[in-house]
Amino acid sequence: MTQTYAKIIGTGSFVPNEPITNDMLVERLAKNGIETSDQWIQERTGICQRYWANEGQTASSMGEIAARNAMEMAGISADEIDLVVVATSTGDMLFPSTACLLQSKIGAKKAAAFDVQAACSGFIYALTTANAMIQSGQVKTALVVGAEVISRLLDWNDRTTCVLFGDGAGAVILRASDEPGVLSCRIHSDGDLSHILHSKGVIYNGAIKGEPFIGMDGQAVFKNAVTLLGDVALEVLEDAQLPVEKLDWFIPHQANIRIIQAAAKRLNVPVEKVIVSVNEHGNTSAASVPLALDKAVRDGRIQRGQTMLLQGVGGGFTWGAALIQY
Ligand code: ACO
Repeated sequence: MTQTYAKIIGTGSFVPNEPITNDMLVERLAKNGIETSDQWIQERTGICQRYWANEGQTASSMGEIAARNAMEMAGISADEIDLVVVATSTGDMLFPSTACLLQSKIGAKKAAAFDVQAACSGFIYALTTANAMIQSGQVKTALVVGAEVISRLLDWNDRTTCVLFGDGAGAVILRASDEPGVLSCRIHSDGDLSHILHSKGVIYNGAIKGEPFIGMDGQAVFKNAVTLLGDVALEVLEDAQLPVEKLDWFIPHQANIRIIQAAAKRLNVPVEKVIVSVNEHGNTSAASVPLALDKAVRDGRIQRGQTMLLQGVGGGFTWGAALIQY
């Protein structure tokens, strides 16, 4: 019996509005008496600019544009989609899910739709879920989206977090195929680390209870991210019996250039094989990996038949990896 793989047949992405450069952010924060600089932000994070959604833009509206771009590349219509999974921590509403709103927007009438919440690892969790459903034969074609308006969770008086994040959406279309696609996926969690990265606000009797902003112990996040990304990369490489030298592209979660460089060094992946977009997008949480992937597919770096390692890490703590033949 031939094996069924989930194969990426289209990618798409979207970022809202004009870029906000570090200098523009410095000026904005200075009005609140908060001091930062382009030099500090670039040296510590590698971020040069980010994009922010305006009031009318949501995870589903940005996700729709990314999804339509991916569908166009794949050459499929909405009625061919059996499953819509959206990874987000900043969905349009509590319910219905952002995936259902997106399913309606694109007119994927026969698709099941649900959200996955695993913070910055969300896209890898969503991809892993869709891959399992394709491999089991339950669905043939899946739309997997990472979409965030994380700017709405930023405390503009906290310079340790508000300089890091941006908004955007990325999408892939996966289709059942007998040609190799997703080769191996692994996802993990450790809720004992929930205190190092969180956004605690909840709706309670008509009011917000708890801090509705991102809170982070930056150094603890840094250390855990590097270790866990290294561990899970080895897991999927071993599972697929692929030596790391055979890897063509490494697309880790785009949180911070220093985390990306440390993870690549730990794995022995040369810098030329690392796809970086954190400089352009900032940290877009669940959207970061599909945004970086789409960029590298569209600029011609990633070619059919090449192997790539996608990775997520973030609040929960959650982390995961997907090894894929494009
Ligand atoms: N501008 C200027 N100075 C700043 C800023 C800023 N935006 N933010 C902090 N500082 C200051 C601090 O106040 C501190 O000053 P002090 O020495 O006078 O006390 C100094 O810079 C150093 O602060 P640290 O927190 O020690 O800086 P560090 O080198 O650890 O860098 C950073 C902070 C960038 C957050 C780092 O810890 C990091 O990269 N952590 C990973 C976190 C991350 O990437 N999170 C993204 C979300 S999580 C995820 O996606 C996985």
